[in-house]
Amino acid sequence: MQKKLIELQNQAKDDLAKAKSPDEIERVRTKYLGRKGVINEIIKAIPSLRPEQRSTIGKLANKLKQEISKWIEETREKFVVEERVPGAEEMFDLSLPGKHKPYGHKHPITQTIDEIKGIFSKLGFDIEYGPEVELEYYNFDALNIPPDHPSREDFDTFYLDNKLLLRSQTSTVQIRVMKEKKPPIRMIAPGKVFRPDTVDACHASMFHQIEGLMVDKGVSFSDLKFILTFFSKAYFGQDIKMRFRPSFFPFTEPSAEVDISCSICRGKGCSVCAYSGWVEVLGAGMVDPNVFEAVGYDAEKYAGFAFGLGVERLAMLRYGIDDIRLFFENDMRFLSQF
Ligand code: DAH
Repeated sequence: MQKKLIELQNQAKDDLAKAKSPDEIERVRTKYLGRKGVINEIIKAIPSLRPEQRSTIGKLANKLKQEISKWIEETREKFVVEERVPGAEEMFDLSLPGKHKPYGHKHPITQTIDEIKGIFSKLGFDIEYGPEVELEYYNFDALNIPPDHPSREDFDTFYLDNKLLLRSQTSTVQIRVMKEKKPPIRMIAPGKVFRPDTVDACHASMFHQIEGLMVDKGVSFSDLKFILTFFSKAYFGQDIKMRFRPSFFPFTEPSAEVDISCSICRGKGCSVCAYSGWVEVLGAGMVDPNVFEAVGYDAEKYAGFAFGLGVERLAMLRYGIDDIRLFFENDMRFLSQF
C-alpha cells in the first residue's frame, strides 16, 4: 500500500506537468482528489487493512492529498500569470462609470468628545490625557478614597499585577496634572474607563468619561455652577434647566450630583427620565483639601472644583438612544446615522 502511494505521488506530478489548460488541471484534480478519486478510494479502504497499518497509511494518504492540492494550486497560478494579456495593466477604460466608495466618519462617541472639547476650549480649558493602565495610587489613594471603600473591591475594578489596574474613572488625570503643574489649572480629560459591570442596556465594561478640573485662588462653587450651566446649555440647548443635589464623593467636599431637565421630553416626563422630568448627568464638587495635600498644593491658598461626566450617557440623552451596547457593536445601520 505504501508503495502504491509513492507511485501515485509520482504519477500525479507527471499528470500535472503534462496539463496544458485549466480544464486539464481540473481533470487531474478530479482524478486524484474528487469524491470518487484515487485518494478517497484508498482512504475508504483503510478499515480493511491490518490494524497496525491503518494509522500509517491514513497519515500518508492525507499528506499526499495536501501535497497534490498544493501542486494543483501552483500549476493553476502559472496559468493565470501566462493567460494575462500583455499590457492589460495599462488599459484603462475612461468611459466606465466610477465605483462608489462610501465616506467614513468619526464614531458618535468621538464626535461627542470632540464637541465637548470644543465647548470647554472656548472657556479656556486645556485638554489632558492620562494612561488607561493606572497605579492604584492615582485611581484611589491620592483621590482620598479610603482603603476599605467598596469601589476598590475586585468586582468594581479590573486589577492587573503589582498595584496596577485599569482605571475605573478619569479622575486619575486630576492628580497627574496637579502633580506636574502649578495653579492656575483649567483642564478637561477625556478617555476610556473600565469596570467589571454586567453588560446591559445601561452598563458596559468599557465606557468614556470626561473629567474636569479648575484650580486657582478664590475659585468658588458659583464658578462650578456657571461652568456646568454654560456647558449643559451649549450641549443640550438653551432651554435646559439644571438641578444640583447634595451628594458625596471622597475627592470633593461639598459634592453634588447634577441633573438636567430631561432632554427627550423637555421635563414633561417620559421613560428615559422615569417620569420624573430630570436625569442625572454628572458628579461634581469642590476639591477636597486631602486631595490638595496629596499633590502638594496649599489648600489655604488655592481652591478648586472638579466634575466627571459619562460621554455615552450624554450622547444617549441627546439622541434618544436607549441601549449603550449600540455604540460598541459596530453595526453600520446604527453608526451611519451620525
Ligand atoms: N469619578 C466619578 C465617577 O466615576 C465622577 C466624578 C464625581 C468626578 C465627582 C468628579 C467629581 O471630579 O467631582 O463616578
